[in-house]
Amino acid sequence: MKHLLNWRVTLLALLVSSSVAYADSRPSAPPAATSPTHAIAQRPGHAGVASANFHATEAGLEVMAKGGNAFDAAIAVASTLSIVEPESSGIGGGFMAVIHRADGHEVFIDARETAPASVNLSDYLNKDGTPNRDNALNGPLSAGIPGEPAGLAWLAAHYGKLPLKDSLAPAIRIARDGFKPDGRLINAITERENEIRRWPASVAKYLPGDKPPVAGEVWRDPDQAHTLELLGEHGFDGFYRGETGKKLVDAVRAAGGNWTAKDLESYQVKERTPITVDYRGYRVVTAPPASSGGVAVAEILNILAGYDLTRLDDAHRTHLVIEAMRRAFRDHNDYLGDPDFVKMPLDMLLSPYYAAGLRMTILPDKATPSSMLPASIGVDPGMHTTHFSVIDKDGNIASITLTVNYTMGSTFVAAGTGVLLNDEMDDFALVPNKPNVYGLLGSAANAPAPGKRMLSSMTPSIVFGADRVGVIGSPGGSTIITQVLEGILAFMDGKDAAGIVAQKRFHHQYMPDRVDMEPGAFDAGTADALTRMGYTLKERNPWGYMNVVTWDLKANKLDAASDPRRESGLGKVQ
Ligand code: GLY
Repeated sequence: MKHLLNWRVTLLALLVSSSVAYADSRPSAPPAATSPTHAIAQRPGHAGVASANFHATEAGLEVMAKGGNAFDAAIAVASTLSIVEPESSGIGGGFMAVIHRADGHEVFIDARETAPASVNLSDYLNKDGTPNRDNALNGPLSAGIPGEPAGLAWLAAHYGKLPLKDSLAPAIRIARDGFKPDGRLINAITERENEIRRWPASVAKYLPGDKPPVAGEVWRDPDQAHTLELLGEHGFDGFYRGETGKKLVDAVRAAGGNWTAKDLESYQVKERTPITVDYRGYRVVTAPPASSGGVAVAEILNILAGYDLTRLDDAHRTHLVIEAMRRAFRDHNDYLGDPDFVKMPLDMLLSPYYAAGLRMTILPDKATPSSMLPASIGVDPGMHTTHFSVIDKDGNIASITLTVNYTMGSTFVAAGTGVLLNDEMDDFALVPNKPNVYGLLGSAANAPAPGKRMLSSMTPSIVFGADRVGVIGSPGGSTIITQVLEGILAFMDGKDAAGIVAQKRFHHQYMPDRVDMEPGAFDAGTADALTRMGYTLKERNPWGYMNVVTWDLKANKLDAASDPRRESGLGKVQ
């Protein structure tokens, strides 16, 4: 065993030294090239949306019924989630999207937050040098410069059919007329009540009557409605300059943060080439850095491509999937960061030869202790963030994952804007060798720097098969990656959208060296076999809320399903 692992380390070293270093420093620019080879000849003729909240799903369908396409619908869904699911995402946060235009053009849109220019590492350390977790997770110092508003304006300008303000209209209407917060939002506010109480504008918004909202109460968000109106009217400038920009900077600085007007004005959406992996007749299009998710999914699929999983019993199939997860997560922490700042050995990590080398280190029926693989560390996965999927009647597709990071982000609302700021600074490796809220240890590649994007696990993905297309993604901190992988494998196994989102899940992330499993993920025989192979199984809950749309090309039929683990979700075809 040991010599196999030593061989693997040598292979790794050889590949690292011979690989071409990769940095995608492509400037922001409107889309030009199309990829006709990826165009699908037929059109669905109807549209499907799946999101974590029925208001958001209906908003997407409403905008498409008024002549919008999947990208206009994405703007409507995202902005509505900012009102009704603020604990997971919003215009104070960011998103990552894989989009496929009906003409075959495919692109990754990176609207991730960035560090402000005056980011100061000492802000995240106590006087004795220990990590200051409070500043990393709560209040304005924890907030990166938001990317979502710029991303929505970008989608409207380059991909949508409708004016931005028309796609924002449902969210603005819901914010003004009011909605009933669901149980999960009420729980999130209750969980974060102590932090919310520190900021007067947060108390005014989230603790009406000095307490969390109660079920059935109608809740309005007029400040955010006004902020969305300005965004709709003026596009990028309506958020990053003028009234909103000034209010954001003033509020952040008055509360001890360090944003400047220049930080906001210089925010840029980035278009990047998505990662594409071919796996047993399927083409998976997924997220490149500054997400680690697509690299990990591709590495896992490349490892698994050497096995015919369909011929294995559940225990052996699960064993191989776990071992592939273990190896991909080991690599994930060490190399990856913002491609505009760091060179990454992506040629190596995505190479089938590298995967073949890793495959040789996997024993057929025995777990590899993570301690026998070169060092890195793992995670306490959180269930934050949100994902939605859209296919329109013309075959345009959007797979979008959005976040404010931890539940309720920084808990800091910028006075007069209704904007709840993210706490995405914690996704940087703020303190070398100390884990973030998900237990992820960072390397130099993910150290903060002015204007840099923090590493994400978001893995919006689209899977193309000969006769089916699947739009898949999930929230879940570090478990996003494994949940999306399992969703992709379930899709390839022929499961429908409802089957994919309902499937029980499991997760391994190298460290801690254990398999987290949803109750019921394995039957007794499989659990017993895995234990005998050397795995430690640990039940845990909750898991991410997956939202999936599939397109059956033979029947030309869409299917949309929202995760049954969340009561407010809705998948709908019209
Ligand atoms: N903040 C969670 C993520 O981006 O992965």
